[in-house]
Amino acid sequence: MSLWNQIGYSANPYAVSPLGSNEEGSELIVGRDKELRKLTIQLRSTDTHPTIEGENGSGKTSLVAVAAYRAEKEYRNGVQKQLLLAIPDLVQMTSDVAEFERSAYFAIAKAYVSNAQKLDDLGFEVVDASELKKWLEAPFIYGGGGGVSAAGFGGNFTRSVAANTSQGFTEAGFRQLVKICLETTFPTREHGAFVGVIDNIELLRTSAEARRVLESVRDGVLSLPGIRWVLCGAKGIVRSVVSSPRLSGRIGRPIDLQPVLDADVPELVRRRLSHFATRPDPDAPVGPEEFAHLYKISNMNLRNSFKHAQDFAVWLDEEDNLAAPPGEKKELLERWIEITASEYAVASPLQPMQWTLFDKIIAAGGVMAPGDYEAFGFNSAQAMRFHLQRLEEANLIDSAIDEDDQRRKTISVTSNGWLVNYHRNAGSSN
Ligand SMILES: Nc1ncnc2c1ncn2[C@@H]1O[C@H](COP(=O)(O)OP(=O)(O)OP(=O)(O)O)[C@@H](O)[C@H]1O
Ligand SMILES: [Mg+2]
Repeated sequence: MSLWNQIGYSANPYAVSPLGSNEEGSELIVGRDKELRKLTIQLRSTDTHPTIEGENGSGKTSLVAVAAYRAEKEYRNGVQKQLLLAIPDLVQMTSDVAEFERSAYFAIAKAYVSNAQKLDDLGFEVVDASELKKWLEAPFIYGGGGGVSAAGFGGNFTRSVAANTSQGFTEAGFRQLVKICLETTFPTREHGAFVGVIDNIELLRTSAEARRVLESVRDGVLSLPGIRWVLCGAKGIVRSVVSSPRLSGRIGRPIDLQPVLDADVPELVRRRLSHFATRPDPDAPVGPEEFAHLYKISNMNLRNSFKHAQDFAVWLDEEDNLAAPPGEKKELLERWIEITASEYAVASPLQPMQWTLFDKIIAAGGVMAPGDYEAFGFNSAQAMRFHLQRLEEANLIDSAIDEDDQRRKTISVTSNGWLVNYHRNAGSSN
């Protein structure tokens, strides 16, 4: 029995995973009506792939999942004639174009196979899914395991499958089949499309790199029929990428996803707590009000706030304090913050100058660009670099440099950093 079951919940109400493309996700989403509307309009009515720019943990992936689910529901309820269907696998962008494309085609093929029956029942024309299934089982698609090395075999894939050579299981053949499936089932935009996510574009090192990859797939995965990709990224990368003239006809202007408003946060938690409750009024480790407090401390990062709430609940259990009365839990939460923050601070002693820099980054909202060194009291980016590295080693900031765009705010305070900041200030004001 999990600790959540013990205290009256069917599952972890503070789970950090994105909301699902299902009824539960649709019930739990709070404060995103405007963004859902914007995204859905773009998905239904434009030819460009929508894009979302928003800080890490702000809810990008969740937004797309719920938008796609609700769009499918509207079709089923007869409100819309155009069917949108979520692709469950998120496609991660990588600097290796071939690998990126392969995972995109693979995600589409899997979604097609698992939706084939449903599409058929709804009266869509469907290509025999057993064909695609065979391809999905061909080891070359999985990369790495099982296949025979295809050096000298041609094509840009590295593995093939000996057993299927008679049928010519080449990657080009696979892509062709995926395309045929899509154009057969969704011959026009009015019929509908799959909705896929190309996620975390900021994981590419530089914006030039992200642009290069997207430009190289412009006439590939970005031009397939029957599929709408939603490109998600943080730290200004989407804004930087959409400026590429070569991509301007293909991808839309970013939807700017601001953090969920403070005022919406208690309701967001209330919904989770009642959704997962297995008995009336279980005693939550972190109630709506305390969660709002964690959200403030975390500088409005939902994922980090959930992570803290979850870690705190586990700690309460370890300390045998799960049954403490609510007022006492409040105090215990402060105690947990203090313990967690001081562990981090002790683990990596810093020079006063580094603390000053850290405080300045906090004062700037927790983010800064490497090009901003003067405003932070340094003569050069190089001089600041050493101190940033110390802060990074102390797990107080994440720091990267985009050589192509030093104005991008690629340096940000980590979730530990925000806890440490809270702890330091609580200490000085007491
Ligand atoms: N509007 C919302 N209402 C309720 N919960 C939300 C909402 N948006 C996000 N969440 C929750 O917040 C957390 C972070 O959401 P999500 O993973 O979608 O963010 P993200 O922006 O995609 O993050 P990353 O940048 O790390 O990919 C998840 O636990 C998710 O369930
Ligand atoms: Mg995400």
